[in-house]
Amino acid sequence: MATMTSLIGLINKIQRACTVLGDHGGEGLSLWEALPSVAVVGGQSSGKSSVLESVVGRDFLPRGSGIVTRRPLVLQLHKTEDGTHEYAEFLHLPRRRFSDFAAVRKEIADETDRITGKTKQISNIPIHLSIYSPNVVNLTLIDLPGLTKVAVEGQQESIVQDIENMVRSYVEKPNCIILAISPANQDIATSDAIKMAREVDPSGERTFGVVTKLDLMDKGTNAVDVLEGRQYRLQHPWVGIVNRSQADINRNVDMMAARRKEREYFETSPEYGHLAHKMGSEYLAKLLSQHLEQVIRQKIPSIIALINKTIDELNAELDRIGRPIAVDSGAQLYTILEMCRAFDKVFKEHLD
Ligand code: GDP
Ligand code: NA
Ligand code: MG
Repeated sequence: MATMTSLIGLINKIQRACTVLGDHGGEGLSLWEALPSVAVVGGQSSGKSSVLESVVGRDFLPRGSGIVTRRPLVLQLHKTEDGTHEYAEFLHLPRRRFSDFAAVRKEIADETDRITGKTKQISNIPIHLSIYSPNVVNLTLIDLPGLTKVAVEGQQESIVQDIENMVRSYVEKPNCIILAISPANQDIATSDAIKMAREVDPSGERTFGVVTKLDLMDKGTNAVDVLEGRQYRLQHPWVGIVNRSQADINRNVDMMAARRKEREYFETSPEYGHLAHKMGSEYLAKLLSQHLEQVIRQKIPSIIALINKTIDELNAELDRIGRPIAVDSGAQLYTILEMCRAFDKVFKEHLD
C-alpha cells in the first residue's frame, strides 16, 4: 500500500492525540470510530474480496466461486514502527501471532465454518482481524457477504433479506466509504452494488464505483460508457479492474504478477487504452488514499476545537485547585495540558 504512505504520518498523529484525549479528556471521542472505514458491496462472486486484497496489496482473504465470504470480516490495519515484523492477529485468538498470510486465510475460512457450519449459511457475527505492519495506514476495511436475489439449496428463504440488512448496517454509517463492485459481465443497470449505494449514499459522495471482470465480457461488448460515467454518474470516477481469475488463484499467481498483468491488460487494450492511466487496482488504491486524506483533513478543525476545549477545562481545573506544582493531581494535569498544546501545534501545522 505504498500509495497510502503520505497519509501515515497524519493519521498517526491524529490517533495518538485522540488516544490522549480518550484516556484523559473524558469526551468519549474515539478516533477509530471518527476515522473512515472502507467496505465492499456487491453481488456474490462479483470480486469483492479480490478488490479488497489488491487495495491492501496482500493475499490473505478467501476467494472463489460461490458464497465464500459468509461472515463480515472487520480488518483493522495498524501501522507499526519501521523494522517491525509484519503479523496478523484475530480477536478470537488473542495470543496467537500469524506471520504466514496463507494461514490467516485458512483461519478466516475455519472460523467462518465454526459459526455457520460447513453450509451455505451466513452469520452477521463479524470476524475481527488486525494486521500490524510498517507498510499500512491505520484504517478499517470490511469484507462482506455478497448480495443475492434468491436462496439456494440449503439456505433459508430469509437469507436474501438477511444479507441485505447486514450489508446495509455497515454501509449506512456516514463515515463508511463504499466500494460498490459491479462485474462487467452483468448489466450495470441492475447492479446490486449500485442499488444499495444509491440507497444509503444518494449524493454519491462516499461511493466509488468499481467494475471488475472486464476481461470476461462478451466479445464485441465493452464497459467504456460505464467507466466514463455516462451510464451512471457518481461524484468519484469509475475504476475498471482486472483481478485474478479462478485459474490464476489455482496457479497461485502472486499479487505483483497479477498487478503487472492487469497493467498490461489496460495498456494494450484497444477499448480501454485511452483510459489506462485511470484504471486498475493501484489507481483505485491511490484514489481511495486521496479521498481519505481529504476526509481526515476535514476533521482536523473539529479535533483542534476539542483539544482547545480540553486545554480550557484543564486550565480552569488548575485554577480551581490553586495550580499546585508538586501535588500528584496537579502534576498530572500539567502533563496532559502540555500534551494537548503539543498536539494542537501539530494539527495546526497540518492545516496549512
Ligand atoms: P466475492 O464473492 O465478491 O468476494 O468475489 P471473489 O473475490 O471471491 O471472486 C469470485 C471469483 O471471481 C473468483 O474465482 C475470482 O478469481 C473471480 N474474479 C474476480 N474478479 C475477477 C476479474 O476481474 N477477472 C476474472 N477473470 N475473474 C475474476
Ligand atoms: Na465468491
Ligand atoms: Mg468474498
